[in-house]
Amino acid sequence: MRAAIVRTPPPGAVAAGRDSGRRRRTTPLSLRVVASVAGSRPCSGARDVHNRSPGTPEVGMTALHRYLVVRELVERDADHAAELLGVGMSDNPIHRAVYGEGRRTRERRHTAIMRTMLSRRHGLRMEGAFSGDDLVAVAGWTPPGRCRPTAGERAWLALTALRMGPRVLSRLVAWQSGWAAHDPDEAHVHLGPVAVDAGMRRQGLGTLLLLRHTAALDAVGAVGYLETDRPEAVPFYNGFGYVVVAEEKVLGVPCWFLRRPASH
Ligand SMILES: CC(C)(COP(=O)(O)OP(=O)(O)OC[C@H]1O[C@@H](n2cnc3c(N)ncnc32)[C@H](O)[C@@H]1OP(=O)(O)O)[C@@H](O)C(=O)NCCC(=O)NCCS
Repeated sequence: MRAAIVRTPPPGAVAAGRDSGRRRRTTPLSLRVVASVAGSRPCSGARDVHNRSPGTPEVGMTALHRYLVVRELVERDADHAAELLGVGMSDNPIHRAVYGEGRRTRERRHTAIMRTMLSRRHGLRMEGAFSGDDLVAVAGWTPPGRCRPTAGERAWLALTALRMGPRVLSRLVAWQSGWAAHDPDEAHVHLGPVAVDAGMRRQGLGTLLLLRHTAALDAVGAVGYLETDRPEAVPFYNGFGYVVVAEEKVLGVPCWFLRRPASH
């Protein structure tokens, strides 16, 4: 079985501590962000984006008095990443519309879809933040020309969804084609999925991953793009230079499509 995420472990982590002091806090920070610049064997043209040493962004974190490691995900991380994404996104409006109202069912179903995606989508690259052994945040992206799954990749996803019943399958297809209809024709790096563990939100982890991602985009002058169905995520992404270029309901859910211009 081929894996979309790289199989080789990343090189040793490089300590690069930061404490920006941006956030409210009452105790001194002991956090150091230990960043491993993605150096694992890349499996796609994403080398041109994320292997250009994005460096360690400055990010303040209030309660994370611990070490973080940020690195490219490898095959052994797939189950944790799928679960984090499956649980972390299950309350999003579009996931409710696709998978149904039962929260546990949504979590289980989206985890299964994410597991298939991580193992079958070859263009997808994933980066994760670890607190000790715990994966606490993930961000995935596809390099230019790879944001749409191939026919074979779609078939694997459809097979997984079919086990959840024809209704889920048809809604998943409607969701994916509704979003794909907005994919820019221009070359772009497509960001998503992005999720932070529910208990770790609003502590700068999303910012950390976005800063790394956009620094990598800027290093090569790439256009960025993403979609979201969470209204509160729009200003979050605006903060990193993404601008809403379209808004449309998919499965009755308002969705926003955001583009980030190339820096040069
Ligand atoms: C969206 C998400 C990735 C943000 O990650 P995060 O680690 O919580 O974000 P940060 O702590 O870096 O937040 C940075 C700023 O973004 C804004 N922001 C982030 N989440 C917000 C929310 N739910 N509501 C309002 N503002 C928010 C705030 O201005 C925040 O700064 P502040 O905490 O100082 O006010 C995270 O909430 C998440 O995983 N959500 C569920 C999955 C999801 O929706 N993914 C994105 C779909 S495209």
